[in-house]
Amino acid sequence: MKPGFEKYIPFTPQKIIGRTWPDKVIGKAPVWCSVDLRDGNQALVDPMNLQEKLEYFHTLVEIGIKEIEIGFPSASETEYEICRELIEGGHIPDDVTIQVLVQAREHLIKKTFEAIKGAKNVILHFYNSTSTLQRKVVFHMETEGITKIATDAADLIYEMSRPLIAEGMNLRFEYSPESFMGTEMDYAVEICQAVIEHLHATPENKVILNLPTTVENCMPNQFADMLEYFCKKLPDRKSAIISLHPHNDRGCGVATAELGLLAGAERVEATLFGNGERTGNVDIVTLAMNMFTQGVDPELNFSNINKIKEMFERCTKMPVGDRQPYAGKLVFTAFSGSHQDAINKGTQYMKESGTEYWEIPYLPIDPADVGREYEPVIRINSQSGKGGAAYIMEHNFGFDLPKTMHPEFGSIVQKETDLVGKEIAPERIRELFDKEYIDAKEPYKLLKHAFQESIDEQGHSHVTFWGTLQHTDTIFKVSGEGNGPIDAFFNAIKDEKMSHFTFLDYASHAITDGSDSQGVAYILLEDQRTGKKYWGVGLSHNINLAPLRGILSAINRAWIDRHQQ
Ligand code: KIV
Ligand code: ZN
Repeated sequence: MKPGFEKYIPFTPQKIIGRTWPDKVIGKAPVWCSVDLRDGNQALVDPMNLQEKLEYFHTLVEIGIKEIEIGFPSASETEYEICRELIEGGHIPDDVTIQVLVQAREHLIKKTFEAIKGAKNVILHFYNSTSTLQRKVVFHMETEGITKIATDAADLIYEMSRPLIAEGMNLRFEYSPESFMGTEMDYAVEICQAVIEHLHATPENKVILNLPTTVENCMPNQFADMLEYFCKKLPDRKSAIISLHPHNDRGCGVATAELGLLAGAERVEATLFGNGERTGNVDIVTLAMNMFTQGVDPELNFSNINKIKEMFERCTKMPVGDRQPYAGKLVFTAFSGSHQDAINKGTQYMKESGTEYWEIPYLPIDPADVGREYEPVIRINSQSGKGGAAYIMEHNFGFDLPKTMHPEFGSIVQKETDLVGKEIAPERIRELFDKEYIDAKEPYKLLKHAFQESIDEQGHSHVTFWGTLQHTDTIFKVSGEGNGPIDAFFNAIKDEKMSHFTFLDYASHAITDGSDSQGVAYILLEDQRTGKKYWGVGLSHNINLAPLRGILSAINRAWIDRHQQ
C-alpha cells in the first residue's frame, strides 16, 4: 500500500453539460424528515430508552417536523416495542407521518409490516447498497444482482401494502440506494427507475428517492452536479420526490444539502444539531435557520432553541458545542472590541432609522428569533473596546450613557480587566459604574434642599434653590437662582469652593425596572484649575434631584482625583 495521502483514490467528478444549479437560490422550505430517532439514535453510545424517545418525538412534533423516522423496528425487540408504543399510545398527531427503515430483505420487510399496523400515515423506507465499493468488497455482486435485491423488495412491499392501503392507511414508500455518492450515476438512475416501476409509482402517487451521502466523499458542488445529472436522466422524474440524506464526514453536510436543493432535491433528512453516524447527519437547525436569515420561512419553529438543546443533551447525552451555529453558548458573543462597537452602532442605527430589517454587523440573526437574549451578546475582557462597557450598561441595566462618556467609563472597566486578567461579568461592570459615579457622595453632600418655581407671562421659568450642604465636617447653607433647577443649583454652589467648575454637558433619561421608574442624569463639568473634565451621574425617583446628584458626583470625583495625586 502507498504511504500517506497517496493511498487515497481521488473522487471522480460526474461530467455534466450545462449545469443550472449555480444560478438558483433556495426560495422555499423543503419537506423535512427527522432521522434523529433512527440514524441519530443508532449512533449513540447509549441509545435512547422508550421515555427518552417519546420525549424526543414530542419535541420534533412541536418543532413542526411532519415526517419522522422513528426507528428500525425489524432490527430489535426494543425498536419494535417503541414503534408499537408510538402507534398504540396515541402519540402520533394526524398530520404527522412516521417513517420506518428496513433493509431490502424479505423477513425484515415482513416484520416491519407487522410493526406499522394501526398507524395512520406511514413511509416505509427500504434500502440496499449500490456503490462500486460495496458491490466489490461486501456483496461480490454485479449490478444485476444489486438491482434484483431492490426490485424483489419493491415487489414484496407493493404486494404487502395493498390490504393496508385498502383499509385506509396512508402508506407511502421510500427507497435509498445506499452510498449513492459512490455509485455510477447512470447505474443509480437505472436502479431507481426500476424501483419506481416495481412500486407502480406515478406523478400522483410518488415514491421518495432518498439519495444519501452515506459517507461524504466529495465537494458539495460535485455532489450538486451528480444530483442534477441524476434528476435530468431519471425517466420517471415526475413520479419521484428527490430526498437528500447528507452525512458530514468532510464537514460539508450543510453545504451539500443546500447545493443539493439547488440541484433539484425537494426533501431533506436531517437531525437536530447534526447527531448521527461518525461525524453525524446534516444539522436541521442550521439548515432551517440559514433559510430564515435569508428571508425564507423554513416552516420549522426554533424560537426556543435553549429548550430544544436541553432536551437533546439530556436524552442523547451528547453535548452541543459552544460554537454550534445558532445554538452554541458562544455564538452571540463578541469578544473583539471592534465587533462590539459595530454591534452597538448597528443597534443604535436600527433604533434611530426605524428600519424593518435586521441590520446589525456581526450578528447574522436576531438572537431573540431563537429565544436567546441580548444580555450575553457582549462580554468584557481586556480585548474589548470602549463601547463594550457602555453596551452592557444599556442592554443589561438600562443606562444610555452619552457617547462622549464612553471612553471615560471604558477605561475604568479596562483597568479592571487588565487587573483581573480575565473576562468580567455584567454585574461587575455595574458595580464599577456605581462605585465610580453613583457612590461618589463625599466630600460634598446635599443634606436638604427646596425649590421654588415661577413662570412669567411669556412662559419663562424662574427657579430658586435653597439647600444645606456638607463638606467633610462643615455644614453650610446655599441658595441660588436660575432658569431651571440645574441652573439654580449650579449658581448656588458657585459661590462656594466650587466656583472653578464649568458646566459642559447634560443628558438624562428614565430607567424603568418593573413598576419602579427612576431618572438618571449625566453631567459633564470641567475643572478650570486643571482643565480636566469629569462626568458625574445622579440617580433619583425625583426628576429634579437626579441632576443635582449628578453635579455633586462630578465635583466629588474631581476632588477625589486631586487628592489621590
Ligand atoms: O446514510 C445512509 O445511507 C442511511 C441509509 C439507510 C439511508 O442512513
Ligand atoms: Zn444515514
